[in-house]
Amino acid sequence: MTDACTFVIFGATGNLAQNKLLPALYHLEEAGRLPDKAVVLGVGRRDWDDEAWRREVEDTLAPRARNGGLDKAVFKRFRQRLYFSPGDLNDKATYQALRERIEHSTELPENVIFYMAIRPAEFGTVSANLAKVGLHKQTNGWRRLVVEKPFGYDLESAQILDDRLHRHFTEEQIFRIDHYLGKGTIQNILVFRFANLLLEPLWNRNYIDHVQISHAEARGIEGRADYYDGAGALRDMIQSHLLQMLTLVAMEPPALLDGEALRDEKVKVLRSIRPIPQSAVHAHAFRAQYTRGQRGGEKLPGYLEEKAVPANSTTETFAALKLYIDNWRWRNVPFYLRTGKAMERNSSMVSIRFKHPPQQLFRETAIESLKPNWILMGIQPDECLRIELQVKQTGLEMRSRTTQLDASYCRADEVKLDAYEALLLDVIDGDHALFLRYDEVEWAWRVVDPVLKLWSVERDFIHTYPAGSWGPQEANRLFDRDDQRWRDSVDAD
Ligand code: BG6
Repeated sequence: MTDACTFVIFGATGNLAQNKLLPALYHLEEAGRLPDKAVVLGVGRRDWDDEAWRREVEDTLAPRARNGGLDKAVFKRFRQRLYFSPGDLNDKATYQALRERIEHSTELPENVIFYMAIRPAEFGTVSANLAKVGLHKQTNGWRRLVVEKPFGYDLESAQILDDRLHRHFTEEQIFRIDHYLGKGTIQNILVFRFANLLLEPLWNRNYIDHVQISHAEARGIEGRADYYDGAGALRDMIQSHLLQMLTLVAMEPPALLDGEALRDEKVKVLRSIRPIPQSAVHAHAFRAQYTRGQRGGEKLPGYLEEKAVPANSTTETFAALKLYIDNWRWRNVPFYLRTGKAMERNSSMVSIRFKHPPQQLFRETAIESLKPNWILMGIQPDECLRIELQVKQTGLEMRSRTTQLDASYCRADEVKLDAYEALLLDVIDGDHALFLRYDEVEWAWRVVDPVLKLWSVERDFIHTYPAGSWGPQEANRLFDRDDQRWRDSVDAD
């Protein structure tokens, strides 16, 4: 049974809390999935009491509720769960007040989740401050700490952060979140692979030509320059979300679907990724930054014109990486990873291209120009799964044409859940399977670290692409062969 708990949000008035956490908790309330006695305690600098926060949350949620507005009865139940504790995160008094409230208030359960919806630079301080007042100890109930990405800035800082957290919290208490693992389309990669017999014989270097994992976003950096300019696309998306997707595509079946077995297999993939030597970074990695452009007649600013971006910034808003996994299954199959902001449109997908059949019977063209089979997994906004095959063209001639089998898991009329709903419920249940173990984070940093190191010293030049485009042509230099190119859409080729 799911325990009653106090869900503490540090950074309660911030972006993440407003856009993701509070809506997810509200929708869990709507679905009847919150434990009876669960409460949500916001911590922030505003001098609010519980009532003031409840009013704020109502305003925050109204435009974000799934069905176009708040359900009065649901919000009435939800608002009774809301409490607020004002305070500065650097001030020990904030934590003392928190502790007293948790220990002495009959409404606040002693099982506590501390959710760090704050700047990564504050993770260490907050965990140390919690420990100073004894809030890490699990004497009268469990204590869990949820840490958002990015977990560190590079390998070394991730190690330092991990040491700091482990000074006070055990691995069992720590939940490192990567919200991509809460997306149904990403979880479906596992089901598609391991619940079907049909695919496994083909899922290897003998049949697969290459794999693409691509995440394009139409939006720019949306006022997040203070974070984004120090991070860039490689850290922001590839080190975390895209490498996680890669592990699910490439891993061996786990012994069980439990947290340790699953994460053991993901770590094996990360450890098998061929390290990129400094001398080969240019052949394996590409970066670029968007300049002024347009989409459908609308003018779009360049990155350097975005609010608070330094005029001489060379931070990449587009990054692409070619990786090889040196194991029995994948040796010499390239995995191409790509992400960009201010691209032509939103499109997040995994595309698996098969090799050509060994003989060409149905066209007069060369075998290389035949259309190969693809498996296209649309992550968002198209949540689909399609298998692209060749069939006979109608008519007198024996020629082939491309068709797609639809293996999508969700129907158009189904409610789309947000990734945070599933993951918050897992934290409440104490299930680590969809959270990152520290060794995963560390191995993911090892993959990108050589590229980051070289890029940090080569600060004088960066490729550009107009906002609203698919990114620079030069990124194609990563492809191993001329017949490889990015799939931008899940529609038939
Ligand atoms: C976040 C990144 O982790 O993921 C953002 O920091 C990015 O830059 C976002 O926009 C993408 O998430 P989603 O769920 O909108 O695809």
